[in-house]
Amino acid sequence: MRVQVGIVGAGPAGLFLALLLHRAGISAVNIESRSRREVEDTIRAGVLEQWLVELMHELGIGGRMATDGHVHDGITLQWDGQRHHVDIAGLTGGKRVMVYPQHEVLRDLVAARLAQGGEIVFGVGGTVIRGVDTDHPAIDYRPDGDGPLATIDCDYVVGADGFHGPGRQAIPKTLRREYQKVYPFGWLGILTRAPVSWPELIYANQGDGFALLSTRSPEIQRMYVQCDPTDHIAAWSDDRIWGELQARLGTHDGWALQEGEIFQKGIIPLRSFVCEPMQYGRLFIAGDAAHIVPPTGAKGLNLAVADVLVLSRALTLQYLHNDRSGLDQYSATCLRRIWKGERFSWYMTTMLHRNAAESDFERRIHFADLDLVRTSALQAGSLAENYVGLPFD
Ligand code: DHB
Repeated sequence: MRVQVGIVGAGPAGLFLALLLHRAGISAVNIESRSRREVEDTIRAGVLEQWLVELMHELGIGGRMATDGHVHDGITLQWDGQRHHVDIAGLTGGKRVMVYPQHEVLRDLVAARLAQGGEIVFGVGGTVIRGVDTDHPAIDYRPDGDGPLATIDCDYVVGADGFHGPGRQAIPKTLRREYQKVYPFGWLGILTRAPVSWPELIYANQGDGFALLSTRSPEIQRMYVQCDPTDHIAAWSDDRIWGELQARLGTHDGWALQEGEIFQKGIIPLRSFVCEPMQYGRLFIAGDAAHIVPPTGAKGLNLAVADVLVLSRALTLQYLHNDRSGLDQYSATCLRRIWKGERFSWYMTTMLHRNAAESDFERRIHFADLDLVRTSALQAGSLAENYVGLPFD
């Protein structure tokens, strides 16, 4: 098979890229090691920055989001039994975020890509990226996981294949620098059939640490508590989960968290990671292949789509105007914004979690950071500006 752009991965980065390239008249194909079902069912965070909401509408895939998503114009921070409303819309000149889960975005993307006749090959195995330092790069893969080899010949290869995929590894080790921070805590996330307890997301640091109250619909709520990343889920009975959530989200004024049946629970580790550069020859990497953020602030999906927006513009410049400046600048352009996303996710994570490896001094500093958001309009403005999505420069 021959296309202009071969995309390894059909997660948010790979699929948004295919749609953006299609709009520019550039041909692409996605291959994906997971099944369609796995791609569409993987539960992740659910906050979309304002520009991403606009992009979904521009691409004609905003319909379900408009009806099922929830627009939020603020968030609540909580510590010491007190809540503080951060008026994000007021602090950013009217910008807002959309709470709409990532797996729903993926369903919209897959449906739109297939409807426009795009090809997504799910369930492939043995993917090998080769020749990216020549003018004739290619991707080899086995369509059904095993069986005979198939090849995509293309002008450019995009590794949008997640943290564990072959994309990043195709950049020679000697040319690549990786930065990483692993946090000594994880998140236990639940989905519960319960009514909404509070009109906006609550990020709390109270009791034994972090908790997050989020929503999915009027009937289904998403909540997280900080836990040991090595904990087995079996150690967390429903009673223990509700006990921790009540302790970390409780207030002094008699408010009560609405409990319900827990129908999904899982534990994720937290890490920060950046790979530099994000390009080698005719290979470009995007999304989790290039960078990971801890989930506090929900930047992962937003950063992934930002990469491919930059990349689609650069490829369009190349194909339509024979101008390679965008492609040459891809890595530097993305990394400037990515590092700010890394900084914000690290800031939210360190400020809001209890870290046993830190001293009491550092713990006090985190509460001072929280109180600064309450007392300083500049600090609150900075948090709000980052939360709704930084500009692209
Ligand atoms: C959700 C997840 C996050 O990491 C976050 O910061 C906000 C919301 C969620 O799953 O709803």
